[in-house]
Amino acid sequence: MIDQTMLQVEGLTKSYPSAHREALTVLKAVDFSLSAGDSLAIVGPSGSGKTTLLGLCAGLDRPSSGTVSIAGTSIGGLTEDQRAAVRNAHVGFVFQNFQLIPTLTALENVMVPLELRGENGPAREAEALALLDRVGLGERSDHYPIQLSGGEQQRVALARAFINQPKILFCDEPTGNLDGDTAHRIVDLIFGLNREKGTTLVLVTHDAELAARCGRTLRLKNGMVVTEAAPSA
Ligand SMILES: Nc1ncnc2c1ncn2[C@@H]1O[C@H](COP(=O)(O)OP(=O)(O)OP(=O)(O)O)[C@@H](O)[C@H]1O
Ligand SMILES: [Mg+2]
Repeated sequence: MIDQTMLQVEGLTKSYPSAHREALTVLKAVDFSLSAGDSLAIVGPSGSGKTTLLGLCAGLDRPSSGTVSIAGTSIGGLTEDQRAAVRNAHVGFVFQNFQLIPTLTALENVMVPLELRGENGPAREAEALALLDRVGLGERSDHYPIQLSGGEQQRVALARAFINQPKILFCDEPTGNLDGDTAHRIVDLIFGLNREKGTTLVLVTHDAELAARCGRTLRLKNGMVVTEAAPSA
């Protein structure tokens, strides 16, 4: 039988050294595992370690101890370039602060992951435009991030994360800057990807409705998992 584990996290701990006092531990011994098609909501108060956990899971940051495996590859021993290759092959990421490239238009930003793969021909450009259309920004493709509102930038960031049809999609507060209607549309898009392509979802959210749509919830407090449960509803 094929191993369908998409993300495995064991004993994940992150500490930051401090000059004046003992190291600050912001994540403590987190364990969980997700299979293809699973969806997980990470919830908890501000400062509880949600963004830190997401960055470690996606291979954007290195843990102080513990291991992360993405699609069967343990990323701990990899070089920066090798981790980037694993990310490019498997991972989509929507940052809490979007991190669009200011000198590129919306369309060019969406196409960055394609450029990294050398797949930026006209057919893929058409796909990027279609994705911008699906997030409601078809008319804004040649605008630069500074010309877009926060919610519009967030939607460009979502389109960029979707373009390579990642096996795992990490989103940090994907509806944080959106009004109710737009948020509904974006959430439907995210779960559409989950349903149609079997994409594994890991969503950090303060939105109880969004968390309830996920198969599981992991609640953090002071860097520790306090509960891990399927929704009670
Ligand atoms: N580079 C760093 N150096 C020191 N402390 C850090 C660093 N990065 C994050 N932290 C601390 O780690 C803790 C967890 O931060 P994190 O961003 O993961 O929280 P969060 O749960 O995502 O919060 P929010 O809901 O506000 O986004 C915070 O106390 C933060 O100050
Ligand atoms: Mg955060």
